[in-house]
Amino acid sequence: MEKNAALAEGIQALKEERDAVILAHNYQIGPVQDIADLVGDSLELSRAAATMDCRVIIFCGVDFMAETAAILSPEKKVLLPAPDACCPMAEMVTAGELQVLRERYPDAAVIAYVNTTAEVKAESDICCTSANAVKVVESLDENQVIFVPDRNLALYVARSSEKEILPWEGYCIVHDRYTSADVRAARAQHPAAEVIVHPECRPEVIDLADGVFSTSGIIRHACTAPWNEFIIGTEVGILHRLGKECPEKRCYPLSEKAICVNMKRTDLQKVYRALDRMEPRITVPGEIAARARRAIDRMLAIR
Ligand code: 13P
Ligand code: SF4
Repeated sequence: MEKNAALAEGIQALKEERDAVILAHNYQIGPVQDIADLVGDSLELSRAAATMDCRVIIFCGVDFMAETAAILSPEKKVLLPAPDACCPMAEMVTAGELQVLRERYPDAAVIAYVNTTAEVKAESDICCTSANAVKVVESLDENQVIFVPDRNLALYVARSSEKEILPWEGYCIVHDRYTSADVRAARAQHPAAEVIVHPECRPEVIDLADGVFSTSGIIRHACTAPWNEFIIGTEVGILHRLGKECPEKRCYPLSEKAICVNMKRTDLQKVYRALDRMEPRITVPGEIAARARRAIDRMLAIR
């Protein structure tokens, strides 16, 4: 039997034995997406972590996602098969820096993008993801909003809000690399294609795009829009799901170099090992988890 098929079979058997569910982000490698119970964006995966009936969650993504799952489901064991899979953007703001900002802007609400540490979430009023950032901002009573850490997402939200948004200087090392020249070159190569991008892209890229969505939003849009060709401005792992869910559409990456190395650290071998050894487990200290949970629950209450 081929190695991946044997591993997939072993994973299936262990999953049942452990009463485990496998959650995978849209950027995971194809073989990992294929063995997952749910593949989705950060918001879908958070909702699943909070509600799924199981004893163990295998989180195929990066550390802040597994931390969020552990905060929402402290009674479950949350395992991150690749413990070195981190999100560099989540390290770009600390709880201490956020406390200083709060003192400087005492009337402002604080929104933490879910791509943050548990400590930063604990210092925030509410979380958001790329799928609900605009709704979250609009749900607040305050007219001034501190938004950490992604400046590009903050600036994107500011386009459709009357509120004063105060962005932090963080960014995604993958999405921030796209330029307007990339969009022009891709359009010249595929003149009939619609350009759809993630809101972590720079304003100059958003300006030239036809649509801006979360990763699952990109998939839904490409599958349901009446066009046949799309230029996809997000991490290339998404092309696997696009190929499965709308094989009749032609989807071209805005850049083939848009690879999040951290999202690629998980493979079937590591998933198998995590299930077999029941580690590495992600936990969040109780007091931080309780405060972070308030901010996450407040986000999840928004529909
Ligand atoms: P989504 O929530 O849109 O899946 O984005 C997560 C992420 O890390 C994007 O870089
Ligand atoms: Fe973080 Fe960017 Fe990777 Fe998403 S693509 S996990 S924001 S580094």
